[in-house]
Amino acid sequence: MFNRVKNVGFENRMPYLNALASEKLRFEVDTIIDGQIERWYETVPYAAHLEGKTVDSEYYRRHLIETAWRIRLLRVSESKALAEIAKRSPEAAQIWANYEREEMLHDELFIQDLVRAGVSREQFLATEPYLSTKLLTGYFSYLLDHEGPLGVVAYSYLVEYVNVKLEPKKIQALKESVGENNIGGQISHSHTDINDDHPGEVWAAIRFLLRNDDDIQSLKRYLAEHQSVLALYFKELYEDKIGSTLQKAA
Ligand SMILES: [Fe+2]
Repeated sequence: MFNRVKNVGFENRMPYLNALASEKLRFEVDTIIDGQIERWYETVPYAAHLEGKTVDSEYYRRHLIETAWRIRLLRVSESKALAEIAKRSPEAAQIWANYEREEMLHDELFIQDLVRAGVSREQFLATEPYLSTKLLTGYFSYLLDHEGPLGVVAYSYLVEYVNVKLEPKKIQALKESVGENNIGGQISHSHTDINDDHPGEVWAAIRFLLRNDDDIQSLKRYLAEHQSVLALYFKELYEDKIGSTLQKAA
């Protein structure tokens, strides 16, 4: 007779990386993301558009619409991720649950700014998400079914790191182009990421999920893959709102 129970997070209660090794890896990961950001600005059309002096209002509105959809769609897969994380690490599950609690309703912040930009809640609901947003959601489902939750958590680290690093500059620019009164939702979203140390929180979950060197390799590959899928979105947005208009004008 033996105990057949599995997936209750009994094993590997001690993180694979000690505190120092975890800090070292985090620094390495941050450096990888910094490199990705540089390539992002070089290769993605209109990547810095919202940081500029004038903002195309159609592009801006659709970006808010899509951001709200992305949060709505991903909260479903990120909730499914919680169960997978709990099977592996109760500690990571607790951190992830807390992070998700803070993020869960953030689509509302973007919808508030959308209303200020002249798009009603009804118009938002009548707009189907872009294919690239559906593909990102599909990638999360693939990861949970076939590779495990680390890839889903890696996405959040990437996004939180980039937000904390770049949002303040974007928010400053939007205050001038769109007006401070019109971006209250985005301002409070950015404040949560920074004040609640979201990158640190997500990193703590990642540390509990890493079990060996293969996981570390996977983590680095996820960062590149998520960046590619996000680039698909920015290309689709550019094509829809800017590229197609330029073509018509030519
Ligand atoms: Fe956040």
